Amino acid sequence: MLSSSSTFSLFKLVPLEAVLFDVDGTLCDSDPLHYYAFREMLQEINFNDGVPITEEFFVKNIAGKHNEDIALLLFPDDLQRGLKFMDDKEAMFRRLASEQLKPVNGIYKLKKWVEDHGLKRAAVTNAPRANAELMISLLGLSDFFDAVILGDDCERAKPHPEPYLKALEALNVSKDHTFVCEDSVSGIKAGVAAGMPVIGLTTRNPEHLLMEAKPTLIIKDYEDPKLWAALEELDKQEAAVKPAA
Ligand SMILES: *[C@@H]1O[C@H](CO)[C@@H](O)[C@H](O)[C@H]1NC(C)=O
Repeated sequence: MLSSSSTFSLFKLVPLEAVLFDVDGTLCDSDPLHYYAFREMLQEINFNDGVPITEEFFVKNIAGKHNEDIALLLFPDDLQRGLKFMDDKEAMFRRLASEQLKPVNGIYKLKKWVEDHGLKRAAVTNAPRANAELMISLLGLSDFFDAVILGDDCERAKPHPEPYLKALEALNVSKDHTFVCEDSVSGIKAGVAAGMPVIGLTTRNPEHLLMEAKPTLIIKDYEDPKLWAALEELDKQEAAVKPAA
């Protein structure tokens, strides 16, 4: 998937200033925990006559979306009930996360690359504040991020570009020198709509689904040789344009 046009949109970023990361599914493999919590709790309240939701339903309708949108989708006639359900579900998610949250492979390798290059970095997520803070802290990344932008802080959550535009503002960097890491269709759309190249991770969502949102590059995780080939090329471009010291 490393076509010349896709790598070109990364090289255009030179000199690179910042990297923006989604959290769920991008920093950590949290979707299985969300899916488990939704499935158990929806079944408990006899949603869909007690037939458990499928992973396909979860990926299509829930993953990467903001809670208010999920509440409306699950409980179209009773938003208040939907919001209460989402709060309870998040409490269950945090219990599960505290015990079982796993980082996406290679995230600490990319973290070091970002630090070594002196880039700014922000986490940009539709997750509720308590979840975002817990996940970032469990991953040991609280000191890594210069800013954390929440969907709750924005008028419009992803797939709207606003959260990513807010992150650029918070870091005082240009969209022309920043790329995004995302794992959901909704998130990739948000990054692309904000004018940045997006690296899509197939942590949980299949490549053909992610491609709909037009990512620049698709990788399995941060160990993927495609990522490091692209970053190496980016380094070469940087070296080529850097004025001699
Ligand atoms: C933002 O960055 C520009 C240069 O890119 C700089 O001139 C300006 O002072 C910065 N603003 C803040 C608030 O840091």
